[in-house]
Amino acid sequence: MFLTDEEAVMLDGGKGPAVQKAMQILVALGESFGAERLVPVNNVHMAGSSVLVAEEAGTRFVEDIRNQGGKFITRVTTNPTAVDPTQWADIGIPESDAVLQTRLTAAYAGMGANSCNTCIPYLVGNMPRFGEHMAWGESSAVVFANSVCGARTNREGGPSGLASALTGRTPEYGFHLKENRYGKFLVKVETPLRDMTDYGTLGFFTGMPTEPTLEELKALSAALASSGSVSMFHAVGVTPEAATLEEAFGPNEPQKVLVFGDAEKAQAEAALNREPSDHVDWILVGCPNASVQEIREVAEALEGKKVHKDVSLWVTTAGAMYAMAERNGYIRTIEEAGGVVVRETCPFLARSRVIAPAKGYKTLTTNSAKMAFYAPGQFGLPTHYGNLGRVMQAAINGVWR
Ligand code: F3S
Repeated sequence: MFLTDEEAVMLDGGKGPAVQKAMQILVALGESFGAERLVPVNNVHMAGSSVLVAEEAGTRFVEDIRNQGGKFITRVTTNPTAVDPTQWADIGIPESDAVLQTRLTAAYAGMGANSCNTCIPYLVGNMPRFGEHMAWGESSAVVFANSVCGARTNREGGPSGLASALTGRTPEYGFHLKENRYGKFLVKVETPLRDMTDYGTLGFFTGMPTEPTLEELKALSAALASSGSVSMFHAVGVTPEAATLEEAFGPNEPQKVLVFGDAEKAQAEAALNREPSDHVDWILVGCPNASVQEIREVAEALEGKKVHKDVSLWVTTAGAMYAMAERNGYIRTIEEAGGVVVRETCPFLARSRVIAPAKGYKTLTTNSAKMAFYAPGQFGLPTHYGNLGRVMQAAINGVWR
């Protein structure tokens, strides 16, 4: 792989051991994917920021890099952690995770990360530019960045994101190259998409019919990332590189044409509903993390009502969204009704295999296709999946209908 003089100096250790290690990671990664060179990046979203992912070994690795003088030279935002900073004990997060998470978060912050700890960095100040090369982790955010913003990023893991933040480089392969960004499959949507959950169901199934909201695009991005490891979609009229269908496919013909109609929608919904009984105990809204608008919708659904005594309702969000929702009174409404607005973590990145048995949770009920897809395999809870209205009814009534 071609390296500039400056990159060669980094690889030879001329900029210190932390940068040298980072460059070794990037060169090995680039060579394994056939990259011809590195491209400059100034924007990293760090995936390895939860101790559920990093554990003790990963935490020590990040601490070692910091102790060797590592400094981030790009903008860096961080993905959710394993811990809500103030309510972790109440919601069942083990103390050992809280202790380890403090170390990991401090190590990233010590190198210059903005510890926003969310999977929606684009809503808290890290908005990608069209055409910008980046090194982002977090699959749903990667799809959003490529498809809604027209930025260019592969799906980076913790070590490669760390290496990019230390060097300002990423290997040029995959979605950094225009020829890899054209569409491959054409999906004809022949059923109305009414809300976030319908967009999530579409993403799980595999034209965009109307003008989707930001929340709907967020849900679609997350579902595509989880169901099919997709890192980019083209929605004609939404994706900056897809003003027309012809532009979306470029020189290629669609390899396959798929239809998403009523039957396919029902099939995808059924696949995400794994719990046969009407039992409800743990409810999750906010995957990807809830926007202020979504928190408002939850608060409105709970106005003058109570969450059922046998149900735990989690609304997961970023600290910045929490602050805005608090100012608008939404947090108070949700808490007075008996719900919890959880910051900086989610059931996927917290230790749910410990939380669920400790709290007696046997199912997970959610309006997120991504969470409904992961919950059975990742932490052993069968799911109820439906739109926000249905999920909030379950929160209030304590049964799934
Ligand atoms: Fe975000 Fe956790 Fe969902 S990281 S996309 S809320 S699984």
